[in-house]
Amino acid sequence: MEKYRTYLIFGAPGSGKGTQGKSLGSIPRFFHCACGDVFRAIDTGTPLGQKFVEYSSRGELVPDEITVKLWHTRLEHCVDDHSFKPDIDSLVLDGIPRNISQAEIMRDIIDVKRVFHLSCPDRSKLVERLRKRAIKDNRLDDANESVIRQRLETYEQESKPLLDFYGPDLVCNIDATQLPVVVFSKIIEMVARDAEADLASALR
Ligand code: AP5
Repeated sequence: MEKYRTYLIFGAPGSGKGTQGKSLGSIPRFFHCACGDVFRAIDTGTPLGQKFVEYSSRGELVPDEITVKLWHTRLEHCVDDHSFKPDIDSLVLDGIPRNISQAEIMRDIIDVKRVFHLSCPDRSKLVERLRKRAIKDNRLDDANESVIRQRLETYEQESKPLLDFYGPDLVCNIDATQLPVVVFSKIIEMVARDAEADLASALR
């Protein structure tokens, strides 16, 4: 199987991964998949749904094997129903891989072209965003400040090492405190450059 051509949107909770992922995914030939959304779509009455509630309400990651299997199954459904066409679409992932173990499991499935790291060292800004979002959306894990703090801690301990795993050639740091449209302009500039380079090499 050909690996999926993939862009990763990476960052701490509240850094804007979903916001930017959705925007890029709305462009033809890009397909957005957010791991958190895949989990939230599961019926919470099922054993898997219960597992998600159990871990996410503590601000912890759901175990790796379950997560990657669920994500991969969801993606295969999207291939089957032709919403994701891997021969022409680039995959835009947010929220996965979330640690080195997941990245290793996914190594044979995705070909990572770039990692857009939405950087926001001032964590208080992220907490503020999530507090506001809690009022707007029905996100249980945004409603409690100690859970938000735990999610940020989980990011520091488990997710951030992925930046070294992918390394400076793939990681593109973007200041996440800029306006959403400015963050998007930086992402799209890089993606467009990659697309043009690919087209030029295909024509050679
Ligand atoms: P997930 O849904 O991935 O949550 P998260 O990482 O905590 O990320 P968020 O959705 O909170 O934030 P975001 O970065 O997408 O920001 P957004 O664009 O919404 O995961 C939830 C849980 O599921 C995890 O805790 C875990 O338990 C489980 N899980 C998921 N994936 C997993 C995995 N791979 N392995 C194991 N477990 C997993 O923006 C936030 C707010 O800020 C919004 O209101 C937005 O409008 C606003 N905003 C965005 N950008 C800007 C900007 N530039 N300026 C001002 N405001 C902005």
